[in-house]
Order: sequence, then structure tokens, then C-alpha cells
Amino acid sequence: MNNIPLKTETLVEALPYIQKYEGKTFVIKYGGAAMVNPDLRETFAQDITVLTKIGINIVIVHGGGREITATADRLGLTSTFVDGQRFTDEAMMDVVQMVLAGKTNKDIAAAINRHDGNAVGLCGLDADLLTARPAKNGALGFVGEVEEVRSALLNLLLANRYIPVVAPIGIGHDRQYFNVNADLAASAIASALKAEKLIYLSDVEGIMVGEELIHSMHRMRAEELISDGIIINGMIPKIQSACAALDGGVVKVHMIDGRVTHALLLEMFTKEGIGTEVTPSPVNSLMEEVQ
Ligand SMILES: Nc1ncnc2c1ncn2[C@@H]1O[C@H](COP(=O)(O)OP(=O)(O)O)[C@@H](O)[C@H]1O
Ligand SMILES: [Mg+2]
Repeated sequence: MNNIPLKTETLVEALPYIQKYEGKTFVIKYGGAAMVNPDLRETFAQDITVLTKIGINIVIVHGGGREITATADRLGLTSTFVDGQRFTDEAMMDVVQMVLAGKTNKDIAAAINRHDGNAVGLCGLDADLLTARPAKNGALGFVGEVEEVRSALLNLLLANRYIPVVAPIGIGHDRQYFNVNADLAASAIASALKAEKLIYLSDVEGIMVGEELIHSMHRMRAEELISDGIIINGMIPKIQSACAALDGGVVKVHMIDGRVTHALLLEMFTKEGIGTEVTPSPVNSLMEEVQ
């Protein structure tokens, strides 16, 4: 892009957002193509570095289902899913820990640090960051739901300009490890930190009604979209955890397409954005539009 007027226009359009977000906290759920595709991984790392350099506190919570399945296969373990969630027995929990906290987590931190980021890889076991209890009365084995976020360590890191990268593994009362859904962990962390934004990067444009992208919606609409069967599958826990975050004091939730290069910067620093924003206030639903 050698269009100088367009470049300056873009920078000027970004200025009010830069001023507004300085010192605020964004929690980003990272997954899908943006984590797997080498080019997108690099541009994501650049975006994160830009956001931190302008004074935004960033916390990343990542998934890694695909990699867990691949490693489990190599070890001869079968992955079983119940309602889209991985049944996690003791052997599978070992794989989840190895892949998520060992490989995926460190790879993400290293990619960001290559771009001068200052990322630190953690999981919920570090300083008992995420305490958990069995989800669905233990029907999914060691799949857990977050009980409490002990955010002292995150605050310490953020205050010193580090970027915490969190693998969603929780610690139970009896010191059992739990596999926690990354959407839910991101939501719990965003609430605990009273984040300005919770951003989900996924392999879909945003919340769709048929072929149409919803640009902005009020959280009440989420219930309708689920009961009308418009939001299904993996978008259900995502939108439910988005609503929980808004109830927990997060200002706005964004669902954006991680397949788009520089999706984060486009969503944060342009008027139109690229995905769906979900807001807590009924006032904002007047602005709702389906385009
Ligand atoms: N109304 C909807 N709008 C957008 N995506 C939807 C909708 N209903 C279901 N989905 C599905 O939810 C998926 C996102 O959830 P998921 O597959 O769990 O991704 P992630 O790995 O990012 O959590 C989308 O890729 C899409 O297939
Ligand atoms: Mg999912």
C-alpha cells in the first residue's frame, strides 16, 4: 500500500481509539487459523505487540483442540467428544497438559517475543491462577469449569508490562488438574480483571444469521438467537461466555475472524470493525444492524 493519504487517514481514524484504550485491559481468546497458519501467527504477534506498545494491557487465553487430538492420536489415545467437549480421562489430561501448557503455550509466547512482545507463558496451575471444579457433575471426566480466577499474578505481570499467555488448565480442591474450555476461561479472566474488552478470534466472520453478519447486538438478543436455533454448536459456549463476561462487568465483547490478516487492529481501530460486537446495554440495541 503506497497510498499516502489513505495511510494517514487510517492513522488519524485510529487516534481516538488509541487515546481511549491506553491503560485498559483486553482479554483475547486465541485459536483457530490465527494460531495454526504461520503467516497469520506472525501478523497476530505483530498486532499484539502494537496493542501493548500503545499502553493496552493484554492477556491471551488460548485453545489447542486440534493439536491435542493430533498428539493423542500419535500416542494411540482416542478422542471422544460429548456435546462438542472432549471427554477427559487421566491419560487424556496428561496429553492436554503436555500439549496446551507445554508446546502450544510456549510457542505462542515465543512468537510474540520474536516481535519484541514480552510474553510470559502460564497455565491455570501457576500460582493457582484458575481454580476449577468438575463440569456437568463429572460427566466429561476431568473437564472443569472455572470456580475462581486468582488474578494477583496477572496483575503483577501486567503492571510490569508483560503479556500473560494462559493455557486453560484449572486446579481442583483435591489438587486434581482440569481441562477447561478456553472460551469459558477467557470469559472468567476478563470478568476478574474487569476488562474493557473480551475478544474471541475464531474461524468465522462473527455471529451470522444465515449469510448475514451481525455487526452489533445487545446481549439479550443472544438468548433469542440460541432459542431460534440460529446460534448452534461451538458458538453456543462462545456467546454464553460472552454474556457471562458482560454480566461480570466487561464493557464489550467482540467476535472476530482470525482468518483475516490483522483482524485485531482492524476491529479495534476502525469505525466499522470487521466482526460482531456484543454490548450489555439495551440502549445500544437501537443501533443494532444486520447488513
Ligand atoms: N450463528 C452462528 N454464527 C457464527 N458461527 C456459528 C453460528 N452458529 C454456529 N456457529 C459455528 O460456531 C463455530 C465457532 O465455534 P468453534 O467451532 O468452537 O470455534 P473455536 O475453536 O474458535 O472456539 C463457527 O465456526 C460456526 O461453525
Ligand atoms: Mg470452541
